[in-house]
Amino acid sequence: MANRENVTHRIMLRPTGVELRASSGTPLRDPLFEQGVEFPCGGQGRCRGCRVQVLEGTARVNSEQQERLSSEELAAGWRLACQCVVEGDLVIELRQWDAAILADETPFAFKPRPGLGVAVDVGTTTIVAQLLDLATGRVLAVRTALNSQARYGGDVMSRVEFALSPSGLQELSSLVRRQIGAMINQLLFAANAPAAEVRDVVLVGNTVMHHLFCGIDVEPLSHYPFVGTRDGLETVSAAYLNWELPPDTAARFLPCLGGFVGSDILAGLLATRIGESESLVALIDLGTNGEIVLGNRERVLCASTAAGPAFEGARISMGMRASTGAISQVTLESGRLQCHVLGKTDARGICGSGLVDAVAAGLELGVIQPSGRFTTANGNWNVCAGVSLTQKDIRELQLAKAAIASGLAMLRERWDGADPARLYLAGAFGNYVNRSSAQRIGLINYPPDLVQPAGNTALLGAKLALFSLGGEDGSYTNLRSRVQHVGLSADPHFQDIFVQQLNFPEPSNAAAKASFSQMQLRNLADPSPARSAG
Ligand code: FES
Repeated sequence: MANRENVTHRIMLRPTGVELRASSGTPLRDPLFEQGVEFPCGGQGRCRGCRVQVLEGTARVNSEQQERLSSEELAAGWRLACQCVVEGDLVIELRQWDAAILADETPFAFKPRPGLGVAVDVGTTTIVAQLLDLATGRVLAVRTALNSQARYGGDVMSRVEFALSPSGLQELSSLVRRQIGAMINQLLFAANAPAAEVRDVVLVGNTVMHHLFCGIDVEPLSHYPFVGTRDGLETVSAAYLNWELPPDTAARFLPCLGGFVGSDILAGLLATRIGESESLVALIDLGTNGEIVLGNRERVLCASTAAGPAFEGARISMGMRASTGAISQVTLESGRLQCHVLGKTDARGICGSGLVDAVAAGLELGVIQPSGRFTTANGNWNVCAGVSLTQKDIRELQLAKAAIASGLAMLRERWDGADPARLYLAGAFGNYVNRSSAQRIGLINYPPDLVQPAGNTALLGAKLALFSLGGEDGSYTNLRSRVQHVGLSADPHFQDIFVQQLNFPEPSNAAAKASFSQMQLRNLADPSPARSAG
């Protein structure tokens, strides 16, 4: 008889027509996440942002779904994808892609026009592209891919370094242009849409991605004061890029905000509307190049800080991206660690969200001291069977979290120490990181209730810009002129704050720490096997 866990099911996504495969028992969010579907509350069943309609097949309803969905919605097949488990073949419609122009639950006003548009988020690590029907705002197809430049370095500085080598800039430019051209072809093929219908392409990314795509000299970004050569709006034709689109189709790379803060954050401002907010709001993109915004409708400040790739699982001995086999969550249950592994498989490594959870748990247990030192005898820590962390891994995380925390602290100083009333986390890692764990390790020193995962704000902003090209309505050109870039490296105080932020906060529950028993230490040395179903 077939093992139930080994049965593979097919999941057909509408409207894109993408077909996925997942084993029985896999949380539905795992394969959907890999397709670029976002889980705005981090999959906690609170925001309804991950609603899907089950058109064929069955997905069971749990208590969270009963609470968040009306009986009419449940009867019509609506489910919260983050709460469902794959138990059979499914055909599902993604609510998230019904209309592209969504901010929270509110449809964003846009001027429909004929034709198709493409929005592209050019990340240092990942590129996401969506094809939109400009008349309806509907997403017709999605493609995600690892940035093909990654073979020349994982972070922006190593890309800059390569670009400065002979023919380096040309190589990186043509790589990413070719890749995005191919992704657009795939989008059109998937949607069965004619290339002749594409009217516009909008791209966003950090300053290095902007310069590399546009073929602009990155030498000034390699040294202080890190000011881009030409960081405004860049418009080129499809013919110039050799893309298989009507020759005069315009590709617009939106303008950067200053230093390494690029149009991904400008797009994030469009998506979150921080520039219209009465209260002080922060937006943090927890990427390799950490980008931070703090502002309201009076003024907006932004800064970037080199967080390094630890949040993406890089430079961690057993680190990996958030894909099958990665420990993505670690919890403490009765003094024992429980690990959730993406996909129905054994743990192969740990991704950024799992790392933050594990360190938060290690701090609570006293396995990791506030200084970051392990208290284990051999200086390593088995998080679950086959996956351990080293002292160097903890140091990498300390550097990353200190970079973000000190960047925000520096911007707060310019607001006379005011605290934001709300803090948005952008990007995939921000979407998945557990906010309590982020607070526990001192990455985000705010209570989880104030912190809101905002999904891919860069892509949402790029989609919004597709409907206000050239900023005819003043939306992004006006916004950009109100944003002030703060160069952290120029401020001698930054180093002091950075050093202060390296330590982890003291345990919240000293009694729990004191009562950490020898039996629990033995449990940690011999942890329970990774639990893969979540
Ligand atoms: S309800 Fe599923 S991600 Fe928020």
